[in-house]
Amino acid sequence: MIEKVKEIEQRFKEQFEKISSLKELDELRIKYLGKKGEITGLLKKIKDIPPEERKEFGRAVNALKVEIQELIQAARAKLEKAEKAGKLDLTLPGKPVIAGKKHPLIKVVEELVEVAVGLGFEIVDGPEIEWEYYNFEALNIPEYHPSRDMWSTLFITDKMLLRTHTSPVQIRTMENRKPPLKVFHPGRVYRKDPFDASHAPAFFQAEGLYVDKNVSFADLKATLEMFTRELFGPKTKIRFLPSYFPFTEPSTEVLVNWGEGWLEILGAGMVHPRVFEAVGYDPEEWTGYAFGLGPDRIAMIKYGIDDIRLFYENDLRLIGEL
Ligand code: DAH
Repeated sequence: MIEKVKEIEQRFKEQFEKISSLKELDELRIKYLGKKGEITGLLKKIKDIPPEERKEFGRAVNALKVEIQELIQAARAKLEKAEKAGKLDLTLPGKPVIAGKKHPLIKVVEELVEVAVGLGFEIVDGPEIEWEYYNFEALNIPEYHPSRDMWSTLFITDKMLLRTHTSPVQIRTMENRKPPLKVFHPGRVYRKDPFDASHAPAFFQAEGLYVDKNVSFADLKATLEMFTRELFGPKTKIRFLPSYFPFTEPSTEVLVNWGEGWLEILGAGMVHPRVFEAVGYDPEEWTGYAFGLGPDRIAMIKYGIDDIRLFYENDLRLIGEL
């Protein structure tokens, strides 16, 4: 009787090899596993087998049944996939491809750069890990001077820190070049500030510096007027408030209004003679202005975002919706 099982197995395999459609596969399944199928027939015979052969026969039949079931199942999956692919409907709408978008802060920084370049500034770079000397000392902020308190600094060692502003790039640029120069530097800065709706421990700044002979406050005013008009529109107005920065004299805070009230978005002033001395420029011969902008602030206003933390949390809705 065992021979009969082997013979059926042989036959099944020969027929199985030739299957090329789901319909044929189903017919084959019925032929072997159906109610009147070959395997079913063998199972029914188990009870008629002499007891000494019954166990072996039963085991062989069941093993074959399982094998056939598995082969059929695997073949069905394959054929279904193939038939589906054959029926590919090219008129169906495609799956949307999610494209990357620029972060609102990066968009603002890029816009600032574009405006600066348009006004004749050259883009320069500088490190985010900075010497205390460049971040403070050379900018006329000596150690123990109370004005250092304006920047809650993240020190790495006594002499090294995460820069608190982009102003050290003024020093680095002037140290390496002879005047005249007109440079712009956007970048990230760091402060030991709480992470709340209006503060972040890391944020952006952009620095402008112009050094030449006979640069006046009127030049600064004209430049900032053009800058803000390019950025916010031709009707933009600016207003200067007296302020204090150790590296400029006089110093000013600039308020901008393009129809939404006055907002402070930058600090500026005429380069302090001590800063020129620190880089070896003769303050009697050279004059200049400097300004520092806050791209985060600008992006918040421009895109109507009331919490700076949104820029630094990876919520893709922020990017998708702008
Ligand atoms: N570095 C200043 C700050 O972080 C901003 C600033 C003010 C930059 C006046 C300047 C400037 O270049 O002239 O608060």
